[in-house]
Amino acid sequence: MKTTTKQKRRRRRPRAKPGGPPILTAGEIDAMRAAGRLASRILDVVSELIAPGVSTAAIDRLVDELTTEAGATSAPYLYQGTFPGHCCTSVNQVVCHGIPADDHILVEGDIINVDVTPVLDGFHGDTSRTFCVGEVNEQARDLVETTFRAMWLGIHAVGPGKHIGDVGRTIQPFAEARGYSIVREFTGHGTGREFHSAPTVFHHTTLGAGIELEPGMAFTIEPMINLGRWKTRVLSDGWTAETIDGKLSAQFEHTIVITPTGVEVFTLGARLRATSRRPPRSYAVIPHPSRSSVR
Ligand code: MF3
Ligand code: CO
Ligand code: CO
Repeated sequence: MKTTTKQKRRRRRPRAKPGGPPILTAGEIDAMRAAGRLASRILDVVSELIAPGVSTAAIDRLVDELTTEAGATSAPYLYQGTFPGHCCTSVNQVVCHGIPADDHILVEGDIINVDVTPVLDGFHGDTSRTFCVGEVNEQARDLVETTFRAMWLGIHAVGPGKHIGDVGRTIQPFAEARGYSIVREFTGHGTGREFHSAPTVFHHTTLGAGIELEPGMAFTIEPMINLGRWKTRVLSDGWTAETIDGKLSAQFEHTIVITPTGVEVFTLGARLRATSRRPPRSYAVIPHPSRSSVR
């Protein structure tokens, strides 16, 4: 059969390898940049609200407002038909998928992960940060710091010719050497037009290297790291996942794309975007315990 130019072009630019992340075109990468910038801006504004006395529902309302204002929608809202919030607010022992609530008031010493995913022009910007509420104890602070560094180590471990398994191979020894454990039941994921797609991005070491990475592949890196054991359980609300031992859990998340030379982070905070060519490799700058604006 005669092949048209259009078919040839399609063949040269596969949208995904079997089991691999979506492969984005240049135009789609532009759209992901815009969605990612919005997502990080939402967290920049959220970081200013976080304080003792603020409810997790107030955070949710702010996320909704900023998202709507930008002409976007919140992917978490009614995700799988049931998630009631516009973002996830996961406090202390909650690992992920915490549901915002009016009667959940933040207190000094809490750590809270806020996970947002605006959908802008059909593309998803998925990112989260863990914030410290007022002064937190040294244990909590070190966990948050280590998780941030683990995420960046994972990001710097990928690039063209690397493998998806390099993420977990890098993160696990780093976190475990500090006495922490890596959550296994929740993972990173391909993303783009779809919120969640193949592959599963493990943050711990798995058998085999996994798929080889190519320019245009987009996915998230979002390690959840626990003070105690890695095991989690989901509460009867069907969403809230917490550590079975009740100990603290922290998380950071970025949405990234493989480039011809390395990796681009779509969801960098404004300050990092403005000041740095290369994001931090292995350190966090936490200027104030209640702030984490350099993300
Ligand atoms: N943002 C989460 C992730 O990183 C998914 C949240 S789904 C929700 O993949 F329904 F809980 F919001
Ligand atoms: Co997320
Ligand atoms: Co995600």
